Amino acid sequence: MSGTHQGSRDQANPLRQLGLDQLRRRTSVKWREYPDDVLPLWVAEMDVPLAEPVARAITDAVALGDTGYTAGTAYPEALAEFARRRWGWDGLAVERTALVPDVMHGVVEALRLLTGPGDAVVVNCPVYPPFYGFVGYAGRRIVEAPLGDDLRIDLGTLEEAFRAARSGGRPAAYLLCNPHNPTGVLHTVDELTAVAALAGRYGLRVVADEIHAPLVSAGARFVPYLSVPGTERGLSLMSASKGWNLAGLRGGLLVAGPAAAGDVARVPFEVSVGTSHLGVIAHTAAFRDGGDWLDALLTGLDDNRRLLAALLAEHLPTVRYRPGQATYLAWLDCRGLGLGDDPAAVFLDRGRVALNSGLDFGTGGAGHVRLNLATSPELLTEAVRRMATAVT
Ligand SMILES: Cc1ncc(COP(=O)(O)O)c(C=O)c1O
Repeated sequence: MSGTHQGSRDQANPLRQLGLDQLRRRTSVKWREYPDDVLPLWVAEMDVPLAEPVARAITDAVALGDTGYTAGTAYPEALAEFARRRWGWDGLAVERTALVPDVMHGVVEALRLLTGPGDAVVVNCPVYPPFYGFVGYAGRRIVEAPLGDDLRIDLGTLEEAFRAARSGGRPAAYLLCNPHNPTGVLHTVDELTAVAALAGRYGLRVVADEIHAPLVSAGARFVPYLSVPGTERGLSLMSASKGWNLAGLRGGLLVAGPAAAGDVARVPFEVSVGTSHLGVIAHTAAFRDGGDWLDALLTGLDDNRRLLAALLAEHLPTVRYRPGQATYLAWLDCRGLGLGDDPAAVFLDRGRVALNSGLDFGTGGAGHVRLNLATSPELLTEAVRRMATAVT
């Protein structure tokens, strides 16, 4: 690559635009949970400025005092168009969507629509820790189906879990993470088709959390769960929250397959009314006008995945990292370091770098950490340097 090309690519990269001084002025949890001598690469926030079209949309709304209750279908329309352009999927029907305050409250609502109190919800651990907390909050019960050693869904294990979940004859759901947090694994059409067939055979309803869907490596393609054959009764949760770093501007969409239209129609007004109008404005602008910004980010994330692999090979060669094709999260197997079940605690104490403890991700998480790649190459390099000092 020519120097000029690399230079303009670096300039466009949102991950290279904020310095540590600016980031430390932030008041969100990533930057406030730990003291200032700790470098935070934990919770899923990105060290990027807001995409210009999103900033403009909310600035215009603020200038107009457009801060009332939300209305209309601009958000699902923008997402449907994005799905068509990016994923080649034209099956997202605006009339089969419902606004939800955010993705996890959408998950709770979906589980309440499909199952009853005490019913089972299958998850593929290790998985995003709030899956456990929110399933409990919804009054449902977790059944774990651990990923295989290759970090992909193991169909035999999933079948066992489906059988266990349905053993009492009660309704049950499968909470699929697509793409998967924390591994960054992008499920293939074949995998999703097999999952859908299995869910159909055992009579489980599928709720796909697709919040990371926009965050897919340049050479790869996200497959929406509802685009796969046999998913007509499925539900999906989508949002611009992860792709454009909008967690502070909350908003999500519950999307139904054709045979689940009646379920989405039952989302109560009391739930949808909790969606922030400013959030809807921001998410709509992201899906509608944030494509160029997203592309620059995805290039930067690909660079960071390669950089992390190189840094680990050099400084922590026993740490196993299998770069995924999606999300900005890296799942690091640190068992070779001999730091016990909770290496994140050691990296924090001795290295002053904050990562997520694998223990929170359920069975299979011990000895692992999750590292957030959505930062500058400089801070990523510093983080690995700190991790290395913690083990020497
Ligand atoms: C898989 C997954 N689902 C949901 C969320 C949270 O979404 P929200 O803040 O919209 O509830 C996250 C945040 O990192 C996530 O990784």
